[in-house]
Amino acid sequence: MRLPASLALLPLALAALLPAAPRADAQQVAATPPMGWNSWNYFAEKVTDKDIRAAADEIVASGMKDAGYIYINIDDTWEGERDASGVLHTNSKFPDMKALADYVHSKGLKIGIYSGPGTKTCGGYAASLGHEEQDAKMYAAWGIDYLKYDLCSFIPDVMLKQAPHDEVQQMRLMVAAYTKMGKALQSTGRPIVYSLCQYGWDSPWEWAPALGGNSWRTTGDINPHWDRIYTILSQQAGLEKYAGPGHWNDPDMLEVGNGKLTLAENRSHFSMWAMLASPLLAGNDLPHMKPEIKAILTNRDVIAIDQDPLGHQASRIYSDGEVDVWARHLSGGAMAVAILNAGSDRVATHPFHLDLAKLGLHGAQQSKNLWTGNSVELTQNMPITLPSHDILLVRIANPK
Ligand code: GLA
Repeated sequence: MRLPASLALLPLALAALLPAAPRADAQQVAATPPMGWNSWNYFAEKVTDKDIRAAADEIVASGMKDAGYIYINIDDTWEGERDASGVLHTNSKFPDMKALADYVHSKGLKIGIYSGPGTKTCGGYAASLGHEEQDAKMYAAWGIDYLKYDLCSFIPDVMLKQAPHDEVQQMRLMVAAYTKMGKALQSTGRPIVYSLCQYGWDSPWEWAPALGGNSWRTTGDINPHWDRIYTILSQQAGLEKYAGPGHWNDPDMLEVGNGKLTLAENRSHFSMWAMLASPLLAGNDLPHMKPEIKAILTNRDVIAIDQDPLGHQASRIYSDGEVDVWARHLSGGAMAVAILNAGSDRVATHPFHLDLAKLGLHGAQQSKNLWTGNSVELTQNMPITLPSHDILLVRIANPK
């Protein structure tokens, strides 16, 4: 099999581009992209202790835990005030964080929390500036397993204040702030996934692994609209060389099951986040999840693409009109190919013709359609029809 240049060069590029070795224990906590659920996309600032417990219950009852979803992550708005000793307390929505963590752990799950390097979080709650070690120790004492660290008020608090006219210095201050919390987490001795959230500013994929980042957001916020999901997806092309075991690009949490996304859009969103080796953090209302949404989130074949131990994020190989073709290598010499109709229903009646040669493939390829489970023989220039925003996702066990 002849590899397209973008895929063949990947390991070399990876070695050359990482500034330093990722944290020694990075692989221990995120050898494959973290999977779980986060409160923000559905509950936003309304989330309570009760919602977190219900999510933990449902992730087990729905079979999602068995499918690999392990982290139950509390996003912004759990924070109360600091006392005279600087200890941050929870607010009334979260009466006892240690008890909540114990409850989540009792289900065989892990628990995540949220803060940021400024004085305030994005929601205006207390963040960690000047209290990094104290907060990290408290997280560890509670039994926290995952921290999302969100830039927000660090921009006016520090970057704009200390270096108002010097963007280079602003970025240095930002990296220093993320380094500080990275060290604080490490010094707790507890394995805690460190998830950077600073919207992809200043190419975090180039510096986050060295400071212990297990993932870094690559863009601004997602929302449950196809246009936003597709924009974020398109911005991931070219970032594949930075992902690997222990350190992942994060195109933001899943919107599967949220808003008015169609079934095709939910399927395509999930398929592509799996192709991207993205963290898979569901963001829907688990206790009221429809069966067809559960079926998407628990598709084992698609999850296996995301969780493939090689950790090779997909490359966008080519686009033809409204159709994008992405591919990634999998362990055991296998390959995953995604053919996405990003546009109108025209491709439902006017087929797209697949150019296998562009994927480095020659002759007929036996594959499995990961949404129907059917075998599909892929041939050069074969016509493929796809409704608007739908996807053909296949796994080729022995690509030739
Ligand atoms: C930012 C982040 C979101 C969410 C909110 C919470 O916008 O990017 O993912 O955490 O803050 O306030």
